[in-house]
Amino acid sequence: NWSMTDFISQQVAQIKATVGEKKVLLGLSGGVDSSVAAVLLHQAIGDQLVCIFVDHGLLRQGEAEQVMASLVDNFGLNVIKVNAQTRFLAKLKGVIDPEQKRKIIGNEFIRVFDDEARKLQGIDFLAQGTLYTDVIESGTDTAKTIKSHHNVGGLPQDMHFTLVEPLKTLFKDEVRELGEQLDMPHDLVWRQPFPGPGLGIRILGEVTADKLAIVRASDSILRSEIKNAGLQEKIWQYFTVLTGIKSVGVMGDGRTYDYTVGIRAINSIDGMTADFARIPWDVLAQVSTRITNEVAHVNRVVYDITSKPPATIEWE
Ligand code: XMP
Repeated sequence: NWSMTDFISQQVAQIKATVGEKKVLLGLSGGVDSSVAAVLLHQAIGDQLVCIFVDHGLLRQGEAEQVMASLVDNFGLNVIKVNAQTRFLAKLKGVIDPEQKRKIIGNEFIRVFDDEARKLQGIDFLAQGTLYTDVIESGTDTAKTIKSHHNVGGLPQDMHFTLVEPLKTLFKDEVRELGEQLDMPHDLVWRQPFPGPGLGIRILGEVTADKLAIVRASDSILRSEIKNAGLQEKIWQYFTVLTGIKSVGVMGDGRTYDYTVGIRAINSIDGMTADFARIPWDVLAQVSTRITNEVAHVNRVVYDITSKPPATIEWE
């Protein structure tokens, strides 16, 4: 007889009992789990919840604004937004190796979160959007398990927080149901998977502000055309990558020598294996035309028709 409404009232009561009059800190990533956890906690303890949202400058177009609009404007959450774009770009300067990029982004994320957390006084609890699957993956000692995904933020080493993990008995689909039940925006609740290192691993080679602009603009075009075609919830994950390739093209009377954008779209159950999505040619044609017309420095668009394995979903 388990229902989501019962779950909400149980959790609200439990959070209140655990937290009392104390304050709770939560790292928002813009993803489903941390957002749903935040709204649930806010329902229980209101302004005793303080959220930190680190904008690493590697989010998709409009994403940071969307998160702030829905959580702050709609739900009245107390969110401290940290604009750390320049900090991340400086750290990523000259870095080409994908794993090194991941490490740098993850470490910097924790550092920024840490810096902000230190400015706050009198916080006793740290909330995380840990799911049941994260608990299983990390072993049985849940009290000590810190979700290692850098997009959630780490636990400042020398600060002693007690963990609050209200979603830790739920699976992903149940978290989505919970989000719906809490009246969260559909787009936020059904957001496609997005890697913690963000667009940093969708630019092959060095990450620069100019390249970020290209991948953001092309990705935004792909997303809007997928939506127009009614395929938004039929494809598991879709995005563009800025390949490191430059090739010759023609525009007007002149030759161009510019970037190639890759379209990646896959279907999957859990991200472990994947099949490339069969997007209709007409939709792809429209995406290609728009990208080459609207995004400066792109003269070629290619479609990735590889499944996983042997390719991974992301290009880095
Ligand atoms: P791959 O590229 O390994 O991706 O086939 C499988 C799924 O995981 C996502 N992904 C990540 N998520 N941090 C994350 O939080 C990461 O570093 C990362 N790398 C890949 C990817 O988007 C896909 O859904």
